[in-house]
Amino acid sequence: MKLQEKLIQYQQSGRAILAANFYNYETLAGILRAAQAENEPVILQLSESSINYLGLEIAAKLARAGLSQFGVEGWLHLDHGATPELAKRCLDAGFDSVMIDGSEKPFEKNIEMTSQVVEMAKAYSANVEAELGFIAKLGQDHDTDGFTKAEQACEFVEQTGVNALAVAIGSAHGFYKQEPKLDLDRLAEIRQSTPVALVLHGASGIPDEMLKAAIRGGIVKVNLATESKNAFMKELKTILFSSNEIDLRKTFPPAIDAVKTIITKKIRLVSMK
Ligand code: 13P
Repeated sequence: MKLQEKLIQYQQSGRAILAANFYNYETLAGILRAAQAENEPVILQLSESSINYLGLEIAAKLARAGLSQFGVEGWLHLDHGATPELAKRCLDAGFDSVMIDGSEKPFEKNIEMTSQVVEMAKAYSANVEAELGFIAKLGQDHDTDGFTKAEQACEFVEQTGVNALAVAIGSAHGFYKQEPKLDLDRLAEIRQSTPVALVLHGASGIPDEMLKAAIRGGIVKVNLATESKNAFMKELKTILFSSNEIDLRKTFPPAIDAVKTIITKKIRLVSMK
């Protein structure tokens, strides 16, 4: 099933799909083991820096082979694509879905760039995600001025024909300095204004009950990166500092398990089990 169809199906059943970023084979394996054990679908995400790190062809084939080997239903998605050119390269490499992030551009420019990618993606039958409003990226500050406005969301979706929309309702990428508070009233207004699949970025550190409330309020794709990356690195550091093992095949497995543990918890949460 295509991702855009699956998102509609999940939206109708009041559940969400976890979109987890991966960085190497080990983080990918942790995600896939969790999805396999939970028998739930998963979206595998790559940012531009991860694509540059792994190489586009290896990254795409690794994800595809992983889904097949673990028997997991899943899709490969470009996270925060900055340009239509990058989106095209990813679609050519076999991605199922691309995000075009024009959120820091003026409204009209964001519409123009998103429309261009929606048009381009038709030939690939691919899912397209855009962002409207401002969700702080790592190290950036944000305030309520940058939150998504319902009327703009409706106009944006109608003009672009985008499948999924990342909304700014109080989440941010990376660790939070203080507990985040999602603007659920605003989410309800956005939900009423447009039928588009709504995406929550910056899920790391959002309290469980708040995340569930956002899903009940219409979020259908939940993006998670920092918490699993942190779990992997923390476990790896513990192992490296406490042993002289040089066999990396013995060193990595506990770190893969740490990713599996956190992803399992999040999959259960977002699938409302
Ligand atoms: P976190 O790193 O805060 O989990 O956010 C991930 C994300 O939104 C990727 O687009």
